[in-house]
Amino acid sequence: MDSALSVENLSLTINGKSIIDDVSLTLERGSFSALCGRNGAGKSQLLRCMKGLRKPTSGRILLNGEAAEAKERMKKVALVFQSAEMQIVSQSVEKDIAFGPENLGFGRDEVRRRVDEALSLMGLEDKAKQRPQTLSGGELRKTAIAGVLAMKPDVILLDEPFANLDYPSTLTVIKALVSLHEKGYTILVVSHEAEKFLAHTDMLYVMEKGRIAEAGLSSVLYNRLPSFDVYLPREAVFRELSWLNA
Ligand SMILES: Nc1ncnc2c1ncn2[C@@H]1O[C@H](COP(=O)(O)OP(=O)(O)OP(=O)(O)O)[C@@H](O)[C@H]1O
Ligand SMILES: [Mg+2]
Repeated sequence: MDSALSVENLSLTINGKSIIDDVSLTLERGSFSALCGRNGAGKSQLLRCMKGLRKPTSGRILLNGEAAEAKERMKKVALVFQSAEMQIVSQSVEKDIAFGPENLGFGRDEVRRRVDEALSLMGLEDKAKQRPQTLSGGELRKTAIAGVLAMKPDVILLDEPFANLDYPSTLTVIKALVSLHEKGYTILVVSHEAEKFLAHTDMLYVMEKGRIAEAGLSSVLYNRLPSFDVYLPREAVFRELSWLNA
């Protein structure tokens, strides 16, 4: 087993209320995983703990097999928030992508290299000079993903990456994630819209009331999702779920 990110017996209590209860999971290097579950199950809080934005009440988080402090995870674990526009701070797409590596202290040449690579990975080359405010929803989300790629993270966590996207933008983001997976990135997607990406994920986790209720291969577990109120087309067949087949 080659673990990129592991969570061991993680619990989080806020004001005496249990939010995450003894969660353990491992993201294998290069894996593409999905995390589903009802509103309030604790998915976003779990991502915040993984990234290092929130300190768990107990438990450990390991990066590349070793216990990693929040400070280190902040640098190496990328989190793309649901509201991509909140993450965009600059006057052009390329300046926005440069923001992360500049903050990490890289020199001008290295920043340029990373920006070009991220633009190319996300297919945003022709948008480099455009003002973020004029981008479509899908382009905006791709810019947010490119911004974290430029920091060369070990793991990419995405919280509801399909929220508010129309059909073409959704396809754009699915394609981008599939292509990052093919390039070897370790990815975890949190989303209610399981039918949009599940055909491409390796592992599936379901959270319920702060606990992992189900964990296993997406291809095996997917048809258990409706019992957790996750929508799947009736008589869905795993391989045929892919929106990319259309
Ligand atoms: N600062 C806080 N104080 C009290 N409760 C909180 C706080 N932050 C989060 N919670 C609670 O933690 C629980 C889990 O929240 P979380 O945002 O992780 O859910 P989620 O699974 O991401 O839900 P959704 O699908 O709606 O995004 C919720 O009941 C929420 O109200
Ligand atoms: Mg959430």
